[in-house]
Amino acid sequence: MAAGKPMPLATGKYVLFVSILVAHSLFGGYWAGTRPNGAGWRFFSWHPLLMMVGMVGLMGTATLTKKRMGYVNTKMHGIIAMTGLMLSMGGFYVIYENKNQMGKDHFTTWHSWAGLAVMIGCTMVGTVGGVFLHPDFGIAKQNGTIRTAHKYFSRFLLLVAWAATLSGLKTLIGDDMMTLVIFAGPLVVAAPFTLM
Ligand code: HEM
Repeated sequence: MAAGKPMPLATGKYVLFVSILVAHSLFGGYWAGTRPNGAGWRFFSWHPLLMMVGMVGLMGTATLTKKRMGYVNTKMHGIIAMTGLMLSMGGFYVIYENKNQMGKDHFTTWHSWAGLAVMIGCTMVGTVGGVFLHPDFGIAKQNGTIRTAHKYFSRFLLLVAWAATLSGLKTLIGDDMMTLVIFAGPLVVAAPFTLM
């Protein structure tokens, strides 16, 4: 085997990190959506849940699936990522509408600007992936520059998205650093294998 040749992500690691990210997105998303303590489930709660499932559970799984390499995994990567993007758009709609209902201004925090940038960026890289890099009909599927740009820009966007989940939670729970560190745990464990 030639040195430096990329290897498909092993099945054991794939199952482990997909499990961590999906579990964190479902349980963490529900838990975050019911903060502060005692607030319970409400219309706002769909924002953290859909964002976590979309950007952490599904986008993370899509990234890990691409690392399995090959034709089928590449198509699965695109389908899972697009599903994640659609759920995230639902989460974006919820927070925008929730702010309208509460008479609050839009885009007033670091979290909101980072979140908006991630939504726009993911729509762009997703469109590029679907139009240029699709394994069946991508019009530039062999273009190394576009492939590399898609890969690294997407990973950067996910890093920002995962950081945004922490800043979103901080808005709800204040300076409870221990809770923030615990919430960040699954992301810190999975990030080196998913985003690098
Ligand atoms: C990658 C995931 C996320 C993205 C892309 C995102 C995006 C956004 C955006 C764009 C806004 C502003 C909407 C507006 O001003 O009209 C917002 C607001 C908000 N988000 Fe998120 N969000 C994410 C995850 C989370 C999570 C996990 C939580 C809670 C744990 C959360 C809590 C909040 C809160 C409390 C607000 C209202 C305050 C503010 O505008 O900063 N978000 N989010």
